[in-house]
Amino acid sequence: MKTQVGIVGAGPAGLLLAHLLRLEGVESVVLETRTREEIEATIRAGVLEQGTVNVLNETGVGERMMREGAVHHGIYLRFGGLTHRVDLAALTHGRSIMVYAQHEVIKDLVKARLDAGAPIEFGVKDVSLQDLDTETPKIRYRAAAGGPQALACDYVAGCDGFHGVSRPSIPSRRRSEFVRTYPFGWLGILVQSPPSTDELIYAHHERGFALVSTRSPEIQRLYVQCEPEDRLENWPDARIWDELRQRLATEDGWSLQEGPIFQKGIVAMRSFVVEPMQYGRLYLAGDAAHIVPPTGAKGLNLAVADVRILARALAAHYREGRGDLLAQYSAMALRRVWRAEHFSWWMTSMLHRFHDDTPFHHRLQLAELEYVVRSKAKATTLAENYVGLPLD
Ligand code: FAD
Ligand code: PHB
Repeated sequence: MKTQVGIVGAGPAGLLLAHLLRLEGVESVVLETRTREEIEATIRAGVLEQGTVNVLNETGVGERMMREGAVHHGIYLRFGGLTHRVDLAALTHGRSIMVYAQHEVIKDLVKARLDAGAPIEFGVKDVSLQDLDTETPKIRYRAAAGGPQALACDYVAGCDGFHGVSRPSIPSRRRSEFVRTYPFGWLGILVQSPPSTDELIYAHHERGFALVSTRSPEIQRLYVQCEPEDRLENWPDARIWDELRQRLATEDGWSLQEGPIFQKGIVAMRSFVVEPMQYGRLYLAGDAAHIVPPTGAKGLNLAVADVRILARALAAHYREGRGDLLAQYSAMALRRVWRAEHFSWWMTSMLHRFHDDTPFHHRLQLAELEYVVRSKAKATTLAENYVGLPLD
């Protein structure tokens, strides 16, 4: 088997790259270890930057998002028992965010690709990348129903997330990794109940961080800071509600809408970057190359920004024989990646309780939050990063 671009992973990065390449007339094959049902049911991100929304709309896969997603023009910061609104739109010349679940984006992209008759192989096993430093790289794998396969490609896109095979296929002497692990995780739940709020609430509290988000008029998405190695058994529903009530308590008459919890999960929190995002004919995109803690809502949006740059570079190569954009891919992508890394680290540091917290540290966090809600300059810094810097 042969294709122009072999794409490893059908997450947002791999599926959107395949979509953008198809619109540019570049052929690709997407290989995914999980089933279609699994990727379409995995609950993850919810916030899309304006630039991400624009890319989906401009390439014809935004129609359901525009119907079912919710545009938000601000967020709330809650601390010291009070709620403060950050007016994202006013601070960024009218930019906003869209609350639309990642697995819905996945469904829209899978459907668009299959409707176009383009290939995605689900349920593949034993994926390995070979000859990446030659002009004829290959992806070897075992098909869901069948024997060993070899896919010869011009280029390989490693879009297989943090635990994939692509990044470790780069010889260790040819990559540098930058890591920070946080001493906490997030417990996320989905709740059957109407929204408690019209816009997301990021809450700082001495018991730990809490976040109120939404999914639809009937479903809320809520998070509480937990231990990094915490287990779901430690979090019966009553404890979750008790913590949420305490961490979200206000003096302004707000109340939390409660209801049946129908999904729970725990995520670890880390910051991670690999440099460069390329080796030979392998290009990394999305979580395969970098991880941010979810506090800034940047992970999915960074994956989108990466593959936009990569798709343009590959299209310029095939259409005009230009190699310069491919050569610049890693440096271009990393500029945005490090901005988002800093923003996500800053939001995380400002809002969470750390194990070594002292009353001094706690006061510093409150001083920083006060400054964000009092200073237009600081609020603008938060707002322009949160809605996302414009895509080039
Ligand atoms: P992934 O989504 O991880 O996709 C990689 C795919 O590759 C997977 O389908 C996997 O099965 C497949 N794969 C793995 N190994 C192989 C292999 N060997 N061969 C073939 N396929 C393979 N981001 C935001 O922007 N906004 C948010 O609000 C936000 N909230 C989040 C909340 C939570 C709780 C979590 C966990 C994440 C959140 N994120 C958020 C981050 C976001 O979900 C990720 O950054 C995003 O999924 C990255 O997309 P990706 O395509 O790079 O990787
Ligand atoms: C979500 O809705 O899942 C969500 C929202 C904001 C974040 C992270 C996750 O910062």
